[in-house]
Amino acid sequence: MKNIETIKDKYTSIIYNTNNLKDLDKVRISAVGKKGEISCMMQEIGKMSIDQKKQMGPLLNSLKNDIINQIDQKKKELENIAIDKALENESIDMSLPINLSEGTLHPVQQVMEEMAVIFSSMGFSIALGPDIEDDFHNFTALNFPPGHPARDMHDTFFMSSKNDEIKKVLRTHTSPVQIRTMIKDEPPIRIIAPGRTFRCDSDQTHTPMFHQVEGLYIDKGIHMGHLKGVLMDFVSKFFETEVEVQFRPHHFPFTEPSAEMDVRYERIGSSIKIGQGGDWMEILGCGMVHPNVLRACGVDPDEYQGFAFGMGVDRLAMLKYGMPDLRDMFSSDTRWLKHYGFGALQQANLATGLS
Ligand code: DAH
Repeated sequence: MKNIETIKDKYTSIIYNTNNLKDLDKVRISAVGKKGEISCMMQEIGKMSIDQKKQMGPLLNSLKNDIINQIDQKKKELENIAIDKALENESIDMSLPINLSEGTLHPVQQVMEEMAVIFSSMGFSIALGPDIEDDFHNFTALNFPPGHPARDMHDTFFMSSKNDEIKKVLRTHTSPVQIRTMIKDEPPIRIIAPGRTFRCDSDQTHTPMFHQVEGLYIDKGIHMGHLKGVLMDFVSKFFETEVEVQFRPHHFPFTEPSAEMDVRYERIGSSIKIGQGGDWMEILGCGMVHPNVLRACGVDPDEYQGFAFGMGVDRLAMLKYGMPDLRDMFSSDTRWLKHYGFGALQQANLATGLS
């Protein structure tokens, strides 16, 4: 058997001279791995006489432990060096000048911020929910009965699931955030919920991923008058001009009564002028929260009422900023982003104008 001290010195020197984690792992395998040198020496103990075993056993064990300790120690050192190096490379020089002509805020982000500014001035706060939802929050609690055709109407992307798992979907609307908020918080509730939504649909005015902003207002004695007031105030502030609107009866499973809100508009050539003209364009769905929805969330409909609304952010961005095709929004074309994007440091606010 080779001299234990010689082997110890050999690995101590190899470990000392190793300067990356990959090589260190190779050293570990060649020394104490299953077929490593020290492991093989330990296997030979079996062939020894009892006296030799008594002598060599503890020596080999201590050699193995010593080498493992040295490797662990070295590993920690190398990991620390790697972290220091990464931190050095990732540090930001705050004194560098900002190149404001590169990098822009996407119009969808801009419009969401404009909406947040307007609704927060009315006392709404922001709530968020997950992109991957379960059937309960996306449909059942929102008063879509099982097997109801409205579930298909939503062109839902279903996630594959094993038999016993709860069926998951990519949320088809931001309305499930209403459910999550009402289950979590006590009324009064005043939230908007911006976020990504998904439906299996694609053409000039539809993309499989799009954005919505949901609104929910729950309190005592709330009625359609409050709903109309809030939404009329919102559109005038959003389009930064007086906008005439109409509420048309509609059906949504989660509201009763339900309506769609249209704004007056006119098409001049290829551009659209909001607030004037003889045509009406639908921009959002709304209604009084259905008592079944309140009950599903543990809210007593005899005590509390409320209204809800939901609107497509991308469509509103198109209308306000005049993009002709919705699909361009998500094609990551830097020429488009430069043209339609907003200054990264521009902050939407009601005092100096939204955009
Ligand atoms: N979730 C509806 C949709 O995606 C939009 C909507 C309509 C939301 C009416 C609401 C509402 O909260 O009250 O088509």
